[in-house]
Amino acid sequence: MTMKPILIKNILQLTPQSQTVKVSGWVRTFRNNQFISLNDGSTIKNLQIVVDFQNFPEELLKKIHTGTSITVTGKLVPSLGKGQTHEVVAEALDIIGECSPEEYPLQPKKHSLEFLREIAHLRMRTTTFQSVFKVRSGLAFAIHQYFQQHGFVYIHSPIITASDAEGAGELFQVTTLNLNNIPKTETGEVDFSEDFFGKPANLTVSGQLEAELAAMAFSKVYTFGPTFRAENSNTPRHLAEFWMIEPEMAFYELPDNMDLAEDMLKYLIQYAFNNFPDELEFLQQRQSEEEKQKPQNERSSMPLLEKLNFCIKESFERLTYTQAIDILENSSYNKKKKFQFPVQWGMDLQTEHERYLVEKEFNKPVILTDYPKAIKAFYMRQNDDDKTVRAMDILFPGIGEIIGGSQREERLDKLEQRMKEMRISAKDMYWYLDTRRFGTVPHSGFGLGFERLVQFVTGMSNIRDVIPFPRTPKNCEF
Ligand code: 4AD
Ligand code: MG
Repeated sequence: MTMKPILIKNILQLTPQSQTVKVSGWVRTFRNNQFISLNDGSTIKNLQIVVDFQNFPEELLKKIHTGTSITVTGKLVPSLGKGQTHEVVAEALDIIGECSPEEYPLQPKKHSLEFLREIAHLRMRTTTFQSVFKVRSGLAFAIHQYFQQHGFVYIHSPIITASDAEGAGELFQVTTLNLNNIPKTETGEVDFSEDFFGKPANLTVSGQLEAELAAMAFSKVYTFGPTFRAENSNTPRHLAEFWMIEPEMAFYELPDNMDLAEDMLKYLIQYAFNNFPDELEFLQQRQSEEEKQKPQNERSSMPLLEKLNFCIKESFERLTYTQAIDILENSSYNKKKKFQFPVQWGMDLQTEHERYLVEKEFNKPVILTDYPKAIKAFYMRQNDDDKTVRAMDILFPGIGEIIGGSQREERLDKLEQRMKEMRISAKDMYWYLDTRRFGTVPHSGFGLGFERLVQFVTGMSNIRDVIPFPRTPKNCEF
């Protein structure tokens, strides 16, 4: 029987005692015609392969370059060199796939993140992106683990819908109509009766409304899937395709919702801490080098691991939107006119305001509640002041809004009235209103932007660097 290759991760856990091992991977570097640094992605660590050039034909050694895939069989011995504990003394070496050093864009030198974004089909072969996507994978698993352990049912909300949950109107339309020959009605409008679904359809912006339906059956549910927003914003925090986690809980009021969100975030950060020490250590190093390039006043005050630890330990600051506006108005920042957008009750907080509260005022995560109803979605529970709703946003250092949620309006009359004011069709939304007609209960939920969480945990400053293939305006490559 032929020997199977062992993952490098497992090899590095063996006690080296000259046992024979077989390993397959891609060459990261080949130094002095003698040392191969091999990676197979099972760990961000590389395995050193020692090649005695006298034992191998020159023709073969000439084909070993950065990116070449090889299989090696040899003896596993302790390494005397610096930087590694194990090495394999090669006895047999096969080239699996060649890689031309003249053409291969990934060379063993520092590439900028911008350049790597242009070669996103190859960037996963770098230690930075292996670290980021391993943490991403782990966090996705931890999300399921957290909710499953807490009695939540996982609901698959649809990707294609005919409703616009947020009323934000940033929809990607889904159609099979021939755009070169669009069927029109007698009055000259697009005849959607001829479209695939017989009416306009779009990619979902949120699974919340469907999650609410399910919460009325299971009490506690969550969704976790891709969502789509045709926001024309080129920022380091927005994607056109991003993943969202949306728990929805019957019999939960706003404070219960905040408690759950805080507990979940701490659990997820702790999970990354416990399970990805090597990756986070590497990312911390990477980030601190990046920080050195920035002007003094824009540098983040804490190294990555310290920042993560800090967020686990501290309780999140909770205050109302109105209190936050007061703080912002009276801040020396505002008095010195340092905000680009002037502060005023009723405004939607801009990232600069959110970051001021988190990074300058409280220096920890902040939960803001009770926003003006005019800037929030129709489904949020109305307060008695007739001005604000039971909304909550969670703001994180370096990120701004990571979670948006609310207690929902469970009173049929109030909800219908708000929908009328906002010109949302009660007829089209009969199924949603049915939850308020048939056994309505107080309930709450929130949406966690998965990429923003990954950004926070990995310290990557651009959201395009935490999803394998980012979709942004004018960019749908790979
Ligand atoms: O605040 P949002 O729009 O809330 C909702 O969609 C609600 N239906 C959630 C709920 O109550 N079930 O979005 C929730 C989160 C934001 O806080 C942000 O983290 C993330 O989703 N998000 C985005 N992430 C990346 N790119 C975008 N374009 C995003 N838009 C929102
Ligand atoms: Mg929001």
